[in-house]
Amino acid sequence: MSASETSVALFKRLVPRPVKSAVRRAYERRTLADALHHLTRLPEGEAPSRTLLDDLQRGWANHGMAARTDYLAEVCRQAALTTGPILECGSGLTTLLLGLIAGRRGIDTWTLEHLPEWHQALAETLARHRIPRVHLCLTPLRSFGDFSWYDPPLDEMPERFNLVVCDGPPSDTSGGRYGVLPLLHDRITAKTVLLLDDAERPTEAEVLRRWHAERPMATSIKETPSGTYALAVVNG
Ligand SMILES: C[S@@+](CC[C@H](N)C(=O)[O-])C[C@H]1O[C@@H](n2cnc3c(N)ncnc32)[C@H](O)[C@@H]1O
Repeated sequence: MSASETSVALFKRLVPRPVKSAVRRAYERRTLADALHHLTRLPEGEAPSRTLLDDLQRGWANHGMAARTDYLAEVCRQAALTTGPILECGSGLTTLLLGLIAGRRGIDTWTLEHLPEWHQALAETLARHRIPRVHLCLTPLRSFGDFSWYDPPLDEMPERFNLVVCDGPPSDTSGGRYGVLPLLHDRITAKTVLLLDDAERPTEAEVLRRWHAERPMATSIKETPSGTYALAVVNG
């Protein structure tokens, strides 16, 4: 072991756990702030690099729950292309990206979140980084018969969504992510793009099967090095 490795090992052994956690959190915050700042400096339309997306994930530090790199890249692509409002189901790192990329272009994102503490953390992060045009809605999950879903503030929401980013509710919810189509039926119209993360899982495959049975849509399944997602375009 080199002298510097010995010092690091000694530091790890001597420093109390709460101090180590505080140092780690400070490092993550700094990494996230730098990566978000970098993102705001990209010329409009320029896609973030994988390195930048990896930095965002490291700074966000919600391993196993946050969107993976290739899906994040697709969210960024769609946020740069969309010409109308975005609906996001389930909040997190993607919310920050949608606000920074689409919000800068004057496009609103409506995000549904059911966990009060997660909603609070997201609201603080959006404010701290001055991320524009995100309407973060705390909505409980509610039973709608054979499925449960968010209870969205429909009266306040736009009449049409051009892009829907589906990363919630969690897969142990009855019906999983299915509910967006029946509940937002009239606001999801021809050419609305639906992104569904985790399409390799049986619950998401079942969601796609139900969506297809109800609405004509052209769906591509994107198998990527970091996971599988679906991109569907509604036909009518
Ligand atoms: C898959 S996550 C959404 C991920 C988001 N698109 C992102 O990129 O970070 C879906 C939901 O899981 C919940 N969630 C996220 N992180 C969590 C955590 N660390 N522990 C428990 N629930 C979490 C939140 O309610 C969130 O809306």
